[in-house]
Amino acid sequence: MESHIVWQNDRLRLLDQRFLPEKTAWIECVSHKDAAWAIKSMIVRGAPLIGVTAAFGCVLAADDYKDDPVWRRKIDAALTFLSKARPTAVNLSWAIEQMRPDIASVASASLLRDVWLEKALAIQKKDEEICRTLGKAGERLVPGKATILTHCNAGALATAGYGTALGVIRAAHEAGKDIRVIADETRPFNQGSRLTAWELSQDGIPVKIACDNSAAALMKKGLVDLVITGADRIAANGDTANKIGTLGLAILADYYDIPFYIAAPLSTIDRSLSSGDEIPIEERSPDEVLFLNDKRIAPDEVSAFNFAFDVAPASLIDGIITEKGILRPPYDASIANIFKDSLDA
Ligand code: MRU
Repeated sequence: MESHIVWQNDRLRLLDQRFLPEKTAWIECVSHKDAAWAIKSMIVRGAPLIGVTAAFGCVLAADDYKDDPVWRRKIDAALTFLSKARPTAVNLSWAIEQMRPDIASVASASLLRDVWLEKALAIQKKDEEICRTLGKAGERLVPGKATILTHCNAGALATAGYGTALGVIRAAHEAGKDIRVIADETRPFNQGSRLTAWELSQDGIPVKIACDNSAAALMKKGLVDLVITGADRIAANGDTANKIGTLGLAILADYYDIPFYIAAPLSTIDRSLSSGDEIPIEERSPDEVLFLNDKRIAPDEVSAFNFAFDVAPASLIDGIITEKGILRPPYDASIANIFKDSLDA
């Protein structure tokens, strides 16, 4: 399958995830504003893919101002604009901050564009490699026969390829394990029923969709062996922001004594935040809840909550699966150590 994010003819081609699986439509970004819009409007989504898109958005920003006499100032402002496209996934600012220091050190905007294109392509390639490594690391947590519940879409579509939570699931399937997946529907954007179910069924991995409100009943019936989700931002103490509903799953898994794991690259860990209370939570338009396929499904006079993420406390997380191995509680220590080791390596 063609990748869902492709740099081609000086443009960024993106598979429009809003219409999957019904329609395969592509959009092209020709400026950094297009890239910011693609992130904001959920054409691309998922923390690592948002980061990769932002990296290419920087390339477009350098191109946008290549003939501007104050290109350094304009490009710096463009990067700040891009970094505000969505607030919760830290991979967005992570990718941009990989780029920003070059503004001061590179001699012209055209050279900067070339330097950043190389970097963006490397970030894209590395992201898929990280997912594959992380998948292998997490696979050993999965029994030979297991039903795994996952929430939202932390798959190939949410990354440069292979996925984080779905990376672990794919690796377990590839290792010959008998894996079944329960994909939470994930209202209101339906990343589970539209994207996760689509990806897994294309790979021949058995998957069944569950309404978001059925997790407790499924767990009580003994139908869930473990829960694995992705993450949008992990604080230094292990508290983890992910798609709204993840907190409920973590509480339920604890109640029913079911292992609950997070799978995420190290770029999703934000050590500048001491706890999950500091993670900014995106609030999206109530219309995403109030309308279905452009048809209003609620009374005209009633509004809706639409927090896009919640935070699962570290105390409910049995392990954080990363490309450097599985982090275990206490997370403040295991997170500090993994970064220390990564720097030493
Ligand atoms: O609003 P979304 O679709 O961007 O939310 C995505 C998630 O919550 C994912 O679980 C998370 O970004 C991890 S993706 C590997």
